[in-house]
Amino acid sequence: MQEFFLEYKTFIVFLHVISAVIWVGGMVSMRYAAHPSFIEIESPAKRLERIAHGLKRLFTIVLPFVIILLLTAVVMIKGYGLSQSEYSVLSHAKEGIWSVMFINLIVMMKRRNRASKALEDGNFALAKSQLEFIGKYQVPANILLGVIAIFIGSYFSSLF
Ligand code: HEM
Repeated sequence: MQEFFLEYKTFIVFLHVISAVIWVGGMVSMRYAAHPSFIEIESPAKRLERIAHGLKRLFTIVLPFVIILLLTAVVMIKGYGLSQSEYSVLSHAKEGIWSVMFINLIVMMKRRNRASKALEDGNFALAKSQLEFIGKYQVPANILLGVIAIFIGSYFSSLF
């Protein structure tokens, strides 16, 4: 693995960074650019429908990059020998952050599906509460965790 990593290091780090950019950047633009614009739609049904659809597209786009982020992280853990190094705590911290972000993403996907189903059934109150929870708590939590992971990554790249 170490030889493989050294041979393709630039490409692996690039894939890792671009995946973080798309995952975290995607959440920021959805939450702080698209969402305030969706909120302006007057019809509650149309508004909730657009938010649910936007989130579905966001999750579909980021999911492959979430997996690439993990795969490249595993290659870097082996390639840099992070688990046996003095930086193992920070490496485990990043693994933990990825895991929490991933679980949060899966829960958001399930909650969004529930909201979509509620919209089909005409249950706007349930759809609203599900989508509100995603926007108010789950997306901002993942953005914060992502920023922390990026900061640790920047620290790593200043070392290696
Ligand atoms: C799953 C566990 C993770 C491990 C073991 C890990 C490990 C690393 C390592 C070793 C580097 C330095 C690469 C180098 O310069 O050669 C790095 C950089 C980076 N990581 Fe991670 N990472 C993980 C998860 C994440 C997550 C969840 C994010 C963000 C969502 C992230 C974002 C970044 C970014 C943006 C950089 C580049 C920083 C820079 O070049 O200044 N990483 N990571």
